Amino acid sequence: MNVVILDRAERAEEFAAAILLSQIRNEPFSKLGLATGRTMEGIYSHLVQANRDGLDFSQLLTFNLDEYVDLSPIDVCSYRYYMNEYLFDETNIEPENTFIPRGNPISLQQEVQEFRNKLREVGSIDVQLLGIGENGHIGFNEPPSLFGSETRVVTLSDETRMQNLDAFGGVLEDVPKRAITMGIKTILEAKKLVLVATGRHKSQAVHDAVEGPLRASLPASAIQLHHDVWVILDEAAAQDLNLTAYYRSHTKNNQLAEEYRTFITKYMR
Ligand code: GLP
Repeated sequence: MNVVILDRAERAEEFAAAILLSQIRNEPFSKLGLATGRTMEGIYSHLVQANRDGLDFSQLLTFNLDEYVDLSPIDVCSYRYYMNEYLFDETNIEPENTFIPRGNPISLQQEVQEFRNKLREVGSIDVQLLGIGENGHIGFNEPPSLFGSETRVVTLSDETRMQNLDAFGGVLEDVPKRAITMGIKTILEAKKLVLVATGRHKSQAVHDAVEGPLRASLPASAIQLHHDVWVILDEAAAQDLNLTAYYRSHTKNNQLAEEYRTFITKYMR
């Protein structure tokens, strides 16, 4: 596992963006797995800038991890709206190449099936971006989530609903109680995982995901089963890790990490 610890959140966002942007540069037809949440906003601003600077996004296919049940795509609190606002409307990504489950379909089961089918049809996602919830969720795979789970409808925990309260004007009753999410198995099928966490409030979940035992009650710990994982952190989110000295020296000596650093100085600053 590649654990990269950077001095502040902006550097972590930049590094994560560099992984995505070098992927797009090398393979303009890439399939990207995208995530939502505050952590992602800075990352998407780098992508928007790169697109303005001439990097073409028109051949990309994108798949989002999740969506709230009952919210329509034009609801300002929906993840579709978030993605349009922070990335899709600001770049030349083709709208028909962006896949996010609809939160208010006629049949939820059919929506789930269609999303599963689409993923199967296009094959593996090249790079899957992940945030992490304070309770260790990825996507909306709440504890406990089976490592064999696929895209499905889930019940959101009160803790997660509380954490997302701001986006709903602080009214808990307005935060949906269910969501559609890619499953853990689906996420692990991506070729590369990039988990990004910043801030002290994420440090326990990061520790449990990276160094703790594998368990359904800490869904993010499933990343330990993958063969190509990048965990990008700021110092605050890395605070509870035990092996930081090792991670730092590994990053220093890692050829690919060096390439991403070069990419940042060459194309992003
Ligand atoms: C939501 C999303 C997750 C995201 C998490 C953390 O629950 N479904 O995919 O990782 O929020 O969000 P933030 O980056 O705002 O802390």
